[in-house]
Amino acid sequence: MCGIIGISSNKSVSSSIINSLKKLEYRGYDSAGIATLSQGFINEVKSEGRVENLENNFDLKNLSGNIGIGHVRWATHGVPNSVNAHPHSSENVSVVHNGIIENSTLLKKYLLSKGHKFKSQTDTEVIVHLITENLKTSELKDAITKTLKQLHGSFALGIIFKDMPDLIIGARRGSPLAVGYGPSENYLGSDSYALKSMTNKITYLDDGEFCFVKKDEVHFFNEEGTKINKKVLELSSDQQNYDKGDYKHFMAKEIEEQPQTLKTGIKEYLDNMNNDINIYNFPWKIDEIKSVMLIGCGTAYHSCLMAKYWFEELTTLDVNIDIASEFRYRKNRFKNDTLYIFVSQSGETADTYAALDLCNKNKMKTCAVVNVIESSIARDSNFVLPIHCGPEIGVASTKAFLGQILVLYILSLKLSSLRNEIDNKDYKEKIKDLKNLPNLIEQTLLIDNDVQAIASTFNEAKGSMFLGRGFSYPIALEGALKLKELSYVHAEGYPAGEMKHGPLALIEEGMPVVVLAPRDNYYKKTISNMQEVVARGAKVLLITNKSKDEIISENIWESIEVETTNDDLLPFLLTIPLQKLAYYSALKKGYDIDKPRNLAKSVTVE
Ligand code: G6P
Repeated sequence: MCGIIGISSNKSVSSSIINSLKKLEYRGYDSAGIATLSQGFINEVKSEGRVENLENNFDLKNLSGNIGIGHVRWATHGVPNSVNAHPHSSENVSVVHNGIIENSTLLKKYLLSKGHKFKSQTDTEVIVHLITENLKTSELKDAITKTLKQLHGSFALGIIFKDMPDLIIGARRGSPLAVGYGPSENYLGSDSYALKSMTNKITYLDDGEFCFVKKDEVHFFNEEGTKINKKVLELSSDQQNYDKGDYKHFMAKEIEEQPQTLKTGIKEYLDNMNNDINIYNFPWKIDEIKSVMLIGCGTAYHSCLMAKYWFEELTTLDVNIDIASEFRYRKNRFKNDTLYIFVSQSGETADTYAALDLCNKNKMKTCAVVNVIESSIARDSNFVLPIHCGPEIGVASTKAFLGQILVLYILSLKLSSLRNEIDNKDYKEKIKDLKNLPNLIEQTLLIDNDVQAIASTFNEAKGSMFLGRGFSYPIALEGALKLKELSYVHAEGYPAGEMKHGPLALIEEGMPVVVLAPRDNYYKKTISNMQEVVARGAKVLLITNKSKDEIISENIWESIEVETTNDDLLPFLLTIPLQKLAYYSALKKGYDIDKPRNLAKSVTVE
């Protein structure tokens, strides 16, 4: 997964390309590069690491050209160095690529036999030579149509040609790509986010399509090379959300924005007057749905697991969950009475999209829980439940997690009510509690000092564990994921009751263990499990909720108390100290919090 930008203009493009690449860094930051066209030459500059390195290593102000392509890379084929950085160019053609060419080895063999010379270890370079080869026998559009058919795998491409001073070709299969329209210039971008500072008029390419982008015109073609018409969409402007404001990091800002995230979600889905939930235009009858399947990756998968507990608690629906990369290759038993829910912040995660596509092909009922409403997953689902939390820039997901679990909780509660599986008084009570949740989150966010004081213990440890039972178990997994993503500390999330079946062997003197034990139905059981790790020398951080009852435990190292609410909603509050723990651990280590090593925000390769 990488980021692509292309600009065809009547003025110099290098500074606009750099600005867009900085915005695209959430898609990858292993290397960055630009190619522009001026005076009949392709000028290529690339550097390992961040866009900042590219700026420091080259005099980009003097990189002339009114047309150019740029790229930020998350390495798949070939180590992340400057040779493997994109663009990849021959004398005549320059290409940027997001995705993986699965038959690159075969194609390379063929191209070597034709005398082409390769410089990099990437799969992308075959595209450069394949186009060059096909141009020997075909005119441009046919050469592109032929090349795209020869490529197996997934791609979004941006291509410029030495001899075509005004043209960028874009092509999409699997990986998203958008065209933007500006005054006397047009753009190509991996997503609307990269283009938003330049335009709000966007066209998304669909799978198999390609386009010719010139400064004053754009043409679209299907995979056979036949011209097609496409819709121009107007995007809403929420530019202020792309700034860090006074915060040191986007992650810090996004953690603090969570009360607002919840307020927006609640406003969207709750009917204040009637103390009810509104889910407008739900396209199916309630009795058509007998089971739910939730699918996602990373943090979004943890949201699915959280939702499973709520659906099972509040409804009698059968509930299954799966990691998208597993689901897409399993022998699934597709069922017409199952609602398939795809959870994704970006709406572009390749595995989640592939799982959705599979369900669509099998004519299943598909529903997307997404943040980016213009995304591929949102566009291709039968029904969309947006989480409305505004752009999330930090690679480690925070406010999107709370946004996702909020929407999934609301959905489970609504289905429970529609299926007459909840007493009306309880239903209204739960809605009332939900409305108060943003205030409780706001108060829980004040635990900064408590968390800062203990963060270094986690940094210095060889490893750590996060334990929880029931509703707290998905939160334990999410807390462990946050710590490993940001602090590069080995962290395992486990159901507290499972420790005795193996993981207890890992506990040694001084090992930090987070135990999530809110005063819910599982409290006493979790506290017993906690004693098992305390007895083996673990340094236990107990996270519970405020209560008039004293904490029933001895020999714990530290404890943090979050605000209190009904059992269903405690997971929201327990998440806050874990996000802060990961943040402060990484801060103390001086790590790049918004861009942890080896990761990317939007994973558009499988
Ligand atoms: C990447 C990100 C994670 C995210 C996951 C799923 O791995 O680093 O933070 O949870 O992708 O992303 P999605 O956009 O589908 O929620």
